[in-house]
Amino acid sequence: MVSTINSMGLLGIDAFRVTVETDASRAMPAFDIVGLPDAAVKESRDRVKAALKNCGYPIPPVKLVVNLAPADIKKTGPFYDLPILLGVMTALGGLEADLADSVFLGELSLSGQVRGVHGVLPMAMGAKELGFHKIFVPQENAPEAALVEGLAVYPVPDANRLLRHFTGEEPLAPCATQLSKGSRQAFELDFADVKGQSQVKRALEIAAAGGHNIMMIGPPGTGKSMLAKRLPSILPDMTLDEAMEVTKIHSVAGLLNSNNALVCERPFRAPHHTVTPAGLAGGGTNASPGEISLAHNGVLFLDEFPEFSRSTMEVLRQPVEDGVVTISRANYRLSYPSSVMLVAAMNPCPCGFFGHPTRQCSCSSNQISRYLGRVSGPMLDRLDIHVEVLPVEYDQLSGGQKEESSAEIRKRVEAARQRQLNRYNGIGVTCNARLTPAMLSNFCHLTPAADKILRLAFEKLGLSGRAYDKILKLSLTIADLENSDQIEASHISEALQYRSLDRKYWSQP
Ligand SMILES: Nc1ncnc2c1ncn2[C@@H]1O[C@H](COP(=O)(O)OP(=O)(O)O)[C@@H](O)[C@H]1O
Ligand SMILES: [Mg+2]
Repeated sequence: MVSTINSMGLLGIDAFRVTVETDASRAMPAFDIVGLPDAAVKESRDRVKAALKNCGYPIPPVKLVVNLAPADIKKTGPFYDLPILLGVMTALGGLEADLADSVFLGELSLSGQVRGVHGVLPMAMGAKELGFHKIFVPQENAPEAALVEGLAVYPVPDANRLLRHFTGEEPLAPCATQLSKGSRQAFELDFADVKGQSQVKRALEIAAAGGHNIMMIGPPGTGKSMLAKRLPSILPDMTLDEAMEVTKIHSVAGLLNSNNALVCERPFRAPHHTVTPAGLAGGGTNASPGEISLAHNGVLFLDEFPEFSRSTMEVLRQPVEDGVVTISRANYRLSYPSSVMLVAAMNPCPCGFFGHPTRQCSCSSNQISRYLGRVSGPMLDRLDIHVEVLPVEYDQLSGGQKEESSAEIRKRVEAARQRQLNRYNGIGVTCNARLTPAMLSNFCHLTPAADKILRLAFEKLGLSGRAYDKILKLSLTIADLENSDQIEASHISEALQYRSLDRKYWSQP
Protein backbone atom coordinates (compact mmCIF):
# COMPACT_ATOMS: atom_id res chain seq x y z
CA MET A 1 0.00 0.00 0.00
CA VAL A 2 1.25 3.47 -0.85
CA SER A 3 0.64 6.35 1.51
CA THR A 4 1.02 10.04 0.77
CA ILE A 5 1.91 12.65 3.40
CA ASN A 6 2.44 16.38 2.78
CA SER A 7 5.50 18.27 3.90
CA MET A 8 7.50 21.30 2.79
CA GLY A 9 11.06 22.12 1.77
CA LEU A 10 13.09 25.31 1.70
CA LEU A 11 14.96 27.05 -1.09
CA GLY A 12 16.53 30.17 0.37
CA ILE A 13 13.68 31.68 2.30
CA ASP A 14 10.99 30.32 0.01
CA ALA A 15 9.14 27.10 0.60
CA PHE A 16 8.07 24.43 -1.85
CA ARG A 17 5.79 21.45 -1.51
CA VAL A 18 7.29 18.04 -0.75
CA THR A 19 5.20 14.89 -0.96
CA VAL A 20 6.38 11.93 1.07
CA GLU A 21 5.25 8.70 -0.60
CA THR A 22 5.77 5.45 1.25
CA ASP A 23 5.34 1.96 -0.14
CA ALA A 24 5.33 -1.16 2.02
CA SER A 25 5.64 -4.54 0.32
CA ARG A 26 6.37 -8.12 1.23
CA ALA A 27 9.93 -8.56 0.08
CA MET A 28 13.44 -8.61 1.52
CA PRO A 29 13.20 -6.29 4.56
CA ALA A 30 14.64 -2.89 3.72
CA PHE A 31 14.04 0.81 4.34
CA ASP A 32 15.15 3.08 1.51
CA ILE A 33 14.73 6.81 1.07
CA VAL A 34 14.92 8.18 -2.49
CA GLY A 35 14.28 11.56 -4.12
CA LEU A 36 17.57 13.48 -3.73
CA PRO A 37 17.86 13.33 0.05
CA ASP A 38 20.98 14.77 1.70
CA ALA A 39 22.80 12.97 4.52
CA ALA A 40 20.51 14.41 7.23
CA VAL A 41 17.44 13.19 5.38
CA LYS A 42 18.92 9.72 4.87
CA GLU A 43 19.51 9.45 8.59
CA SER A 44 15.77 9.91 9.05
CA ARG A 45 15.47 6.19 8.49
CA ASP A 46 17.30 5.31 11.69
CA ARG A 47 15.53 7.93 13.76
CA VAL A 48 12.10 6.91 12.50
CA LYS A 49 12.83 3.23 13.14
CA ALA A 50 14.02 3.86 16.69
CA ALA A 51 11.23 6.33 17.47
CA LEU A 52 8.54 3.92 16.27
CA LYS A 53 10.04 1.09 18.27
CA ASN A 54 10.23 3.21 21.39
CA CYS A 55 6.62 4.32 20.95
CA GLY A 56 5.57 0.67 20.91
CA TYR A 57 5.18 0.22 17.15
CA PRO A 58 8.18 -1.81 15.95
CA ILE A 59 8.43 -2.00 12.15
CA PRO A 60 7.66 -5.53 10.88
CA PRO A 61 10.05 -7.18 8.40
CA VAL A 62 8.80 -5.62 5.16
CA LYS A 63 10.38 -3.62 2.36
CA LEU A 64 9.76 0.10 2.77
CA VAL A 65 10.52 2.64 0.07
CA VAL A 66 10.09 6.33 0.83
CA ASN A 67 10.10 8.76 -2.09
CA LEU A 68 10.41 12.50 -1.53
CA ALA A 69 8.79 14.21 -4.51
CA PRO A 70 9.65 16.28 -6.54
CA ALA A 71 12.73 14.15 -7.09
CA ASP A 72 14.74 16.84 -8.89
CA ILE A 73 15.17 19.26 -5.96
CA LYS A 74 17.64 18.35 -3.26
CA LYS A 75 16.01 17.82 0.14
CA THR A 76 18.05 19.03 3.05
CA GLY A 77 17.60 19.13 6.78
CA PRO A 78 15.78 16.98 9.26
CA PHE A 79 12.21 18.22 8.57
CA TYR A 80 11.03 14.92 7.15
CA ASP A 81 11.28 12.62 10.19
CA LEU A 82 7.71 13.30 11.21
CA PRO A 83 6.06 12.90 7.78
CA ILE A 84 8.13 9.77 7.11
CA LEU A 85 7.02 8.29 10.43
CA LEU A 86 3.39 8.96 9.55
CA GLY A 87 3.90 7.63 6.04
CA VAL A 88 5.34 4.40 7.37
CA MET A 89 2.54 3.97 9.91
CA THR A 90 -0.08 4.58 7.23
CA ALA A 91 1.58 2.30 4.68
CA LEU A 92 1.70 -0.45 7.28
CA GLY A 93 -2.00 -0.01 7.94
CA GLY A 94 -1.44 1.23 11.49
CA LEU A 95 -3.02 4.63 10.95
CA GLU A 96 -6.25 5.52 9.27
CA ALA A 97 -6.82 9.22 9.07
CA ASP A 98 -7.48 11.75 6.36
CA LEU A 99 -4.27 13.77 6.20
CA ALA A 100 -4.83 15.40 2.82
CA ASP A 101 -5.23 18.94 4.14
CA SER A 102 -2.37 18.72 6.66
CA VAL A 103 1.35 19.41 6.44
CA PHE A 104 3.93 17.82 8.75
CA LEU A 105 7.40 19.00 9.76
CA GLY A 106 9.73 17.93 12.52
CA GLU A 107 12.84 16.11 13.61
CA LEU A 108 12.61 13.07 15.86
CA SER A 109 14.82 11.95 18.68
CA LEU A 110 15.39 8.22 19.06
CA SER A 111 12.87 8.11 21.88
CA GLY A 112 10.22 9.81 19.75
CA GLN A 113 10.46 13.38 21.08
CA VAL A 114 9.88 16.00 18.36
CA ARG A 115 12.73 18.49 18.08
CA GLY A 116 12.59 22.01 16.67
CA VAL A 117 13.75 22.75 13.13
CA HIS A 118 14.77 25.88 11.23
CA GLY A 119 12.63 27.69 8.69
CA VAL A 120 9.16 26.82 9.99
CA LEU A 121 7.72 30.29 9.32
CA PRO A 122 8.39 30.35 5.55
CA MET A 123 7.23 26.74 5.28
CA ALA A 124 4.01 27.53 7.14
CA MET A 125 3.46 30.53 4.84
CA GLY A 126 4.07 28.24 1.87
CA ALA A 127 1.60 25.68 3.20
CA LYS A 128 -1.06 28.37 3.55
CA GLU A 129 -0.46 29.57 0.00
CA LEU A 130 -0.79 26.03 -1.30
CA GLY A 131 -4.23 25.82 0.30
CA PHE A 132 -3.52 23.53 3.26
CA HIS A 133 -5.55 24.10 6.41
CA LYS A 134 -3.49 22.43 9.11
CA ILE A 135 0.18 22.24 9.96
CA PHE A 136 1.79 20.00 12.57
CA VAL A 137 5.11 21.37 13.81
CA PRO A 138 7.52 20.84 16.71
CA GLN A 139 6.22 22.44 19.88
CA GLU A 140 9.04 24.98 20.05
CA ASN A 141 8.32 26.20 16.49
CA ALA A 142 4.59 26.63 17.05
CA PRO A 143 4.76 30.38 17.89
CA GLU A 144 6.39 31.24 14.55
CA ALA A 145 3.98 29.05 12.57
CA ALA A 146 1.15 30.76 14.44
CA LEU A 147 2.14 34.06 12.83
CA VAL A 148 0.44 32.80 9.67
CA GLU A 149 -3.22 33.69 9.71
CA GLY A 150 -5.78 31.20 8.49
CA LEU A 151 -3.74 28.09 9.23
CA ALA A 152 -4.45 25.79 12.19
CA VAL A 153 -1.14 25.13 13.94
CA TYR A 154 -0.74 21.97 16.02
CA PRO A 155 2.28 21.86 18.31
CA VAL A 156 3.59 18.29 18.51
CA PRO A 157 5.56 17.32 21.62
CA ASP A 158 6.34 13.72 20.60
CA ALA A 159 5.45 11.03 18.08
CA ASN A 160 3.23 9.17 20.51
CA ARG A 161 1.03 12.21 21.11
CA LEU A 162 0.72 12.71 17.36
CA LEU A 163 -0.45 9.13 16.84
CA ARG A 164 -2.88 9.42 19.76
CA HIS A 165 -4.21 12.61 18.18
CA PHE A 166 -5.22 10.70 15.08
CA THR A 167 -6.69 7.75 16.98
CA GLY A 168 -8.78 10.26 18.86
CA GLU A 169 -7.46 9.14 22.25
CA GLU A 170 -5.82 12.45 23.10
CA PRO A 171 -6.40 15.17 20.49
CA LEU A 172 -3.87 18.00 20.21
CA ALA A 173 -5.19 21.51 20.57
CA PRO A 174 -4.27 24.02 17.84
CA CYS A 175 -2.55 27.13 19.12
CA ALA A 176 -3.94 30.60 18.56
CA THR A 177 -2.67 32.98 15.89
CA GLN A 178 -0.19 35.36 17.44
CA LEU A 179 0.17 38.13 14.98
CA SER A 180 0.68 40.99 17.34
CA LYS A 181 3.40 43.52 17.00
CA GLY A 182 4.87 43.83 20.45
CA SER A 183 5.42 47.31 21.77
CA ARG A 184 8.78 48.84 21.19
CA GLN A 185 11.40 48.06 23.79
CA ALA A 186 13.28 50.81 25.51
CA PHE A 187 16.80 51.11 24.13
CA GLU A 188 19.70 50.99 26.54
CA LEU A 189 21.96 53.07 24.34
CA ASP A 190 20.75 56.62 23.76
CA PHE A 191 22.07 59.51 21.70
CA ALA A 192 21.81 61.66 24.81
CA ASP A 193 25.00 59.91 26.04
CA VAL A 194 27.03 61.35 23.18
CA LYS A 195 28.35 64.83 23.86
CA GLY A 196 28.65 67.28 20.97
CA GLN A 197 29.15 65.74 17.51
CA SER A 198 26.03 67.52 16.30
CA GLN A 199 27.10 67.28 12.65
CA VAL A 200 27.57 63.55 12.86
CA LYS A 201 24.26 63.16 14.64
CA ARG A 202 22.58 65.16 11.90
CA ALA A 203 24.15 62.88 9.27
CA LEU A 204 22.98 59.78 11.14
CA GLU A 205 19.48 61.25 11.40
CA ILE A 206 19.38 61.74 7.63
CA ALA A 207 20.74 58.23 7.08
CA ALA A 208 18.05 56.78 9.35
CA ALA A 209 15.28 58.85 7.74
CA GLY A 210 16.01 57.70 4.19
CA GLY A 211 17.68 54.33 4.83
CA HIS A 212 20.99 55.58 3.42
CA ASN A 213 24.40 53.99 3.76
CA ILE A 214 26.86 56.03 5.77
CA MET A 215 30.57 56.06 6.48
CA MET A 216 32.18 57.70 9.48
CA ILE A 217 35.86 58.50 9.28
CA GLY A 218 37.99 59.97 12.06
CA PRO A 219 40.67 59.43 14.70
CA PRO A 220 40.29 56.71 17.37
CA GLY A 221 38.29 57.49 20.48
CA THR A 222 36.09 60.14 18.91
CA GLY A 223 32.91 58.12 19.36
CA LYS A 224 32.40 56.46 15.98
CA SER A 225 31.54 53.06 17.40
CA MET A 226 29.53 54.70 20.15
CA LEU A 227 27.42 56.64 17.64
CA ALA A 228 26.85 53.66 15.33
CA LYS A 229 25.61 51.48 18.16
CA ARG A 230 22.98 54.09 18.98
CA LEU A 231 21.55 54.09 15.48
CA PRO A 232 18.83 51.46 16.19
CA SER A 233 17.35 53.78 18.80
CA ILE A 234 16.38 56.34 16.14
CA LEU A 235 15.28 54.02 13.36
CA PRO A 236 11.58 54.04 12.45
CA ASP A 237 9.46 51.03 13.43
CA MET A 238 9.17 48.29 10.85
CA THR A 239 5.92 47.82 9.02
CA LEU A 240 4.26 44.46 9.55
CA ASP A 241 5.42 43.29 6.12
CA GLU A 242 8.98 44.27 6.91
CA ALA A 243 8.81 42.49 10.26
CA MET A 244 7.49 39.32 8.60
CA GLU A 245 10.33 39.35 6.06
CA VAL A 246 12.94 39.72 8.78
CA THR A 247 11.28 37.00 10.84
CA LYS A 248 11.34 34.64 7.86
CA ILE A 249 15.08 35.07 7.43
CA HIS A 250 15.74 34.67 11.13
CA SER A 251 13.55 31.57 11.13
CA VAL A 252 15.64 29.99 8.37
CA ALA A 253 18.80 30.85 10.32
CA GLY A 254 17.31 29.39 13.51
CA LEU A 255 17.60 32.66 15.43
CA LEU A 256 14.03 33.14 16.59
CA ASN A 257 13.26 33.20 20.25
CA SER A 258 10.30 31.03 21.02
CA ASN A 259 8.49 33.48 23.32
CA ASN A 260 8.31 36.34 20.93
CA ALA A 261 8.31 34.90 17.46
CA LEU A 262 7.80 38.06 15.42
CA VAL A 263 10.98 40.12 15.15
CA CYS A 264 9.75 43.66 15.76
CA GLU A 265 13.04 45.46 16.09
CA ARG A 266 15.17 46.33 13.13
CA PRO A 267 18.21 44.06 13.18
CA PHE A 268 21.63 45.47 14.04
CA ARG A 269 24.45 43.17 12.97
CA ALA A 270 28.09 44.00 13.59
CA PRO A 271 30.25 41.17 12.24
CA HIS A 272 33.95 41.27 13.15
CA HIS A 273 36.38 42.16 10.37
CA THR A 274 37.64 38.55 10.27
CA VAL A 275 34.24 37.42 8.89
CA THR A 276 34.55 35.26 5.76
CA PRO A 277 32.85 36.18 2.48
CA ALA A 278 30.41 33.27 2.99
CA GLY A 279 29.74 34.40 6.55
CA LEU A 280 28.81 37.80 5.22
CA ALA A 281 26.91 36.87 2.07
CA GLY A 282 25.56 33.46 3.04
CA GLY A 283 25.76 30.13 1.29
CA GLY A 284 28.17 27.44 2.38
CA THR A 285 27.44 23.72 2.20
CA ASN A 286 24.21 23.95 4.19
CA ALA A 287 22.96 27.09 2.56
CA SER A 288 22.02 29.61 5.19
CA PRO A 289 21.66 33.39 5.24
CA GLY A 290 24.78 35.47 5.92
CA GLU A 291 25.21 38.59 8.08
CA ILE A 292 24.04 40.89 5.32
CA SER A 293 20.71 39.05 5.12
CA LEU A 294 20.39 38.75 8.88
CA ALA A 295 20.64 42.55 8.85
CA HIS A 296 17.84 42.84 6.24
CA ASN A 297 15.65 45.90 6.92
CA GLY A 298 18.12 46.98 9.57
CA VAL A 299 21.74 47.98 10.04
CA LEU A 300 24.91 46.20 8.94
CA PHE A 301 27.68 47.87 10.93
CA LEU A 302 31.23 47.28 9.72
CA ASP A 303 33.61 48.75 12.26
CA GLU A 304 37.29 49.23 11.30
CA PHE A 305 36.16 49.00 7.68
CA PRO A 306 39.59 48.83 5.94
CA GLU A 307 40.47 45.77 8.05
CA PHE A 308 37.89 43.67 6.19
CA SER A 309 39.55 41.53 3.52
CA ARG A 310 39.37 42.56 -0.09
CA SER A 311 37.26 39.53 -0.99
CA THR A 312 34.81 40.27 1.82
CA MET A 313 34.34 43.83 0.59
CA GLU A 314 33.89 42.64 -2.97
CA VAL A 315 31.17 40.22 -1.99
CA LEU A 316 29.34 43.05 -0.26
CA ARG A 317 29.06 45.35 -3.23
CA GLN A 318 26.30 43.78 -5.29
CA PRO A 319 23.96 42.88 -2.40
CA VAL A 320 24.27 46.38 -0.93
CA GLU A 321 23.29 47.87 -4.26
CA ASP A 322 20.53 45.44 -5.23
CA GLY A 323 19.09 44.48 -1.86
CA VAL A 324 19.38 40.76 -2.63
CA VAL A 325 22.17 38.21 -2.39
CA THR A 326 22.18 35.58 -5.08
CA ILE A 327 24.05 32.38 -4.39
CA SER A 328 24.83 29.97 -7.21
CA ARG A 329 26.33 26.57 -6.55
CA ALA A 330 26.65 23.45 -8.66
CA ASN A 331 23.37 22.02 -7.41
CA TYR A 332 21.32 25.00 -6.35
CA ARG A 333 20.74 28.68 -6.89
CA LEU A 334 18.92 30.80 -4.38
CA SER A 335 18.58 34.31 -3.12
CA TYR A 336 18.18 36.02 0.22
CA PRO A 337 16.92 39.57 0.74
CA SER A 338 19.64 41.98 1.90
CA SER A 339 18.18 45.43 1.97
CA VAL A 340 20.39 46.99 4.62
CA MET A 341 21.67 50.31 5.82
CA LEU A 342 25.42 49.84 5.58
CA VAL A 343 27.24 51.74 8.30
CA ALA A 344 31.02 51.75 8.05
CA ALA A 345 33.46 53.28 10.53
CA MET A 346 37.17 53.77 9.97
CA ASN A 347 40.31 55.56 11.04
CA PRO A 348 41.89 57.66 8.29
CA CYS A 349 45.32 55.94 8.52
CA PRO A 350 47.10 53.11 10.39
CA CYS A 351 48.05 55.33 13.39
CA GLY A 352 44.66 57.00 13.24
CA PHE A 353 45.68 60.66 13.47
CA PHE A 354 45.88 61.74 9.83
CA GLY A 355 43.79 64.89 9.54
CA HIS A 356 43.62 65.31 13.34
CA PRO A 357 43.40 69.00 14.31
CA THR A 358 46.13 68.86 16.99
CA ARG A 359 47.95 65.51 16.97
CA GLN A 360 50.73 64.53 14.63
CA CYS A 361 50.22 61.59 12.30
CA SER A 362 53.21 59.25 12.20
CA CYS A 363 52.36 57.46 8.97
CA SER A 364 54.14 57.94 5.66
CA SER A 365 52.00 59.15 2.79
CA ASN A 366 52.50 55.76 1.21
CA GLN A 367 51.10 54.01 4.26
CA ILE A 368 48.14 56.35 4.33
CA SER A 369 47.22 55.89 0.70
CA ARG A 370 47.62 52.12 0.99
CA TYR A 371 45.35 52.09 4.04
CA LEU A 372 42.67 54.27 2.46
CA GLY A 373 43.05 52.37 -0.81
CA ARG A 374 41.64 49.27 0.85
CA VAL A 375 38.27 50.94 0.49
CA SER A 376 37.85 50.94 -3.25
CA GLY A 377 36.31 53.74 -5.29
CA PRO A 378 33.21 51.71 -6.21
CA MET A 379 32.68 50.85 -2.54
CA LEU A 380 33.07 54.49 -1.55
CA ASP A 381 30.53 55.40 -4.20
CA ARG A 382 27.96 53.12 -2.59
CA LEU A 383 28.23 54.88 0.74
CA ASP A 384 25.75 57.73 0.29
CA ILE A 385 26.96 59.81 3.23
CA HIS A 386 30.57 60.39 4.21
CA VAL A 387 31.02 62.18 7.49
CA GLU A 388 34.08 63.16 9.47
CA VAL A 389 34.09 62.49 13.21
CA LEU A 390 36.53 64.87 14.88
CA PRO A 391 37.41 65.00 18.59
CA VAL A 392 35.00 67.02 20.72
CA GLU A 393 36.32 69.97 22.68
CA TYR A 394 37.14 69.47 26.34
CA ASP A 395 34.45 71.91 27.46
CA GLN A 396 31.79 70.05 25.55
CA LEU A 397 32.87 66.69 26.92
CA SER A 398 33.07 67.84 30.53
CA GLY A 399 30.19 70.32 30.44
CA GLY A 400 26.76 69.41 31.70
CA GLN A 401 24.99 70.51 28.54
CA LYS A 402 21.97 68.36 27.89
CA GLU A 403 21.99 66.47 24.59
CA GLU A 404 18.95 65.61 22.55
CA SER A 405 17.54 62.16 23.32
CA SER A 406 17.03 59.39 20.79
CA ALA A 407 13.25 59.62 21.25
CA GLU A 408 13.24 63.23 20.05
CA ILE A 409 15.37 62.45 17.03
CA ARG A 410 13.26 59.42 16.21
CA LYS A 411 10.11 61.53 16.02
CA ARG A 412 11.57 63.51 13.13
CA VAL A 413 12.89 60.36 11.48
CA GLU A 414 9.49 58.70 11.68
CA ALA A 415 7.69 61.69 10.23
CA ALA A 416 10.10 61.73 7.28
CA ARG A 417 9.74 57.98 6.77
CA GLN A 418 5.95 58.26 6.89
CA ARG A 419 6.08 60.78 4.03
CA GLN A 420 8.07 58.24 2.04
CA LEU A 421 5.67 55.38 2.85
CA ASN A 422 2.73 57.50 1.67
CA ARG A 423 4.51 58.61 -1.47
CA TYR A 424 5.71 55.13 -2.46
CA ASN A 425 2.52 53.33 -1.54
CA GLY A 426 2.08 50.37 -3.87
CA ILE A 427 5.37 50.57 -5.77
CA GLY A 428 7.32 48.19 -3.56
CA VAL A 429 9.73 50.72 -2.08
CA THR A 430 9.71 51.92 1.51
CA CYS A 431 12.49 54.49 1.64
CA ASN A 432 14.37 56.95 -0.56
CA ALA A 433 17.58 54.93 -0.58
CA ARG A 434 15.80 52.11 -2.45
CA LEU A 435 14.46 54.21 -5.33
CA THR A 436 15.48 53.03 -8.78
CA PRO A 437 16.85 55.60 -11.24
CA ALA A 438 13.54 55.59 -13.15
CA MET A 439 11.57 56.33 -9.98
CA LEU A 440 14.02 59.07 -9.06
CA SER A 441 13.05 61.29 -11.94
CA ASN A 442 9.39 60.80 -11.03
CA PHE A 443 9.75 61.85 -7.44
CA CYS A 444 12.52 64.46 -7.40
CA HIS A 445 11.30 67.98 -8.07
CA LEU A 446 14.17 70.45 -7.94
CA THR A 447 13.74 74.18 -7.78
CA PRO A 448 15.67 76.02 -10.54
CA ALA A 449 18.24 77.19 -7.98
CA ALA A 450 18.74 73.63 -6.72
CA ASP A 451 19.16 72.39 -10.26
CA LYS A 452 21.77 75.03 -10.96
CA ILE A 453 23.88 74.05 -7.94
CA LEU A 454 23.70 70.38 -8.81
CA ARG A 455 24.71 71.02 -12.43
CA LEU A 456 27.65 73.13 -11.27
CA ALA A 457 28.81 70.53 -8.80
CA PHE A 458 28.45 67.76 -11.33
CA GLU A 459 30.58 69.55 -13.91
CA LYS A 460 33.19 70.81 -11.48
CA LEU A 461 33.66 67.70 -9.38
CA GLY A 462 33.36 65.12 -12.13
CA LEU A 463 30.76 63.09 -10.23
CA SER A 464 29.85 59.60 -11.40
CA GLY A 465 26.32 58.71 -12.48
CA ARG A 466 25.90 56.74 -9.30
CA ALA A 467 27.07 59.67 -7.18
CA TYR A 468 24.55 61.89 -8.98
CA ASP A 469 21.69 59.49 -8.09
CA LYS A 470 22.87 59.23 -4.51
CA ILE A 471 22.96 62.99 -4.11
CA LEU A 472 19.41 63.28 -5.44
CA LYS A 473 18.14 60.63 -3.05
CA LEU A 474 19.95 62.23 -0.16
CA SER A 475 18.50 65.66 -0.97
CA LEU A 476 15.06 64.09 -1.16
CA THR A 477 15.48 62.76 2.37
CA ILE A 478 16.69 66.14 3.61
CA ALA A 479 13.61 67.70 2.03
CA ASP A 480 11.42 65.04 3.67
CA LEU A 481 12.89 65.89 7.06
CA GLU A 482 11.80 69.47 6.41
CA ASN A 483 8.40 68.36 5.20
CA SER A 484 9.11 69.98 1.86
CA ASP A 485 7.66 68.73 -1.43
CA GLN A 486 10.43 70.34 -3.43
CA ILE A 487 14.17 69.89 -3.35
CA GLU A 488 15.64 73.28 -2.64
CA ALA A 489 19.13 74.67 -3.05
CA SER A 490 19.90 74.22 0.65
CA HIS A 491 18.96 70.54 0.47
CA ILE A 492 21.27 69.95 -2.48
CA SER A 493 24.14 71.84 -0.83
CA GLU A 494 23.88 69.81 2.34
CA ALA A 495 23.78 66.56 0.36
CA LEU A 496 26.85 67.62 -1.62
CA GLN A 497 28.71 68.24 1.62
CA TYR A 498 28.32 64.57 2.50
CA ARG A 499 30.16 63.61 -0.67
CA SER A 500 33.19 65.82 -0.22
CA LEU A 501 35.39 63.71 2.06
CA ASP A 502 36.60 61.40 -0.66
CA ARG A 503 38.37 64.41 -2.10
CA LYS A 504 39.92 65.33 1.24
CA TYR A 505 41.18 61.84 2.05
CA TRP A 506 41.17 59.70 -1.08
CA SER A 507 42.55 62.22 -3.55
CA GLN A 508 45.84 62.76 -1.72
CA PRO A 509 48.83 63.03 -4.02
N1 LIG B 1 31.30 62.62 22.08
C1 LIG B 1 31.45 61.79 23.12
N2 LIG B 1 30.64 61.89 24.20
C2 LIG B 1 30.79 61.06 25.24
N3 LIG B 1 31.71 60.10 25.32
C3 LIG B 1 32.55 59.94 24.28
C4 LIG B 1 32.45 60.77 23.12
N4 LIG B 1 33.39 60.39 22.26
C5 LIG B 1 34.05 59.36 22.82
N5 LIG B 1 33.55 59.07 24.04
C6 LIG B 1 34.03 58.03 24.94
O1 LIG B 1 35.12 57.39 24.33
C7 LIG B 1 34.89 56.00 24.21
C8 LIG B 1 35.46 55.49 22.92
O2 LIG B 1 34.67 55.87 21.83
P1 LIG B 1 34.51 54.97 20.55
O3 LIG B 1 33.14 55.12 20.06
O4 LIG B 1 34.94 53.58 20.83
O5 LIG B 1 35.54 55.67 19.57
P2 LIG B 1 35.98 55.25 18.12
O6 LIG B 1 35.10 54.16 17.66
O7 LIG B 1 35.83 56.50 17.31
O8 LIG B 1 37.40 54.85 18.22
C9 LIG B 1 33.39 55.85 24.30
O9 LIG B 1 33.03 54.60 24.80
C10 LIG B 1 33.00 56.97 25.23
O10 LIG B 1 33.12 56.54 26.56
MG1 LIG C 1 35.71 52.24 17.20
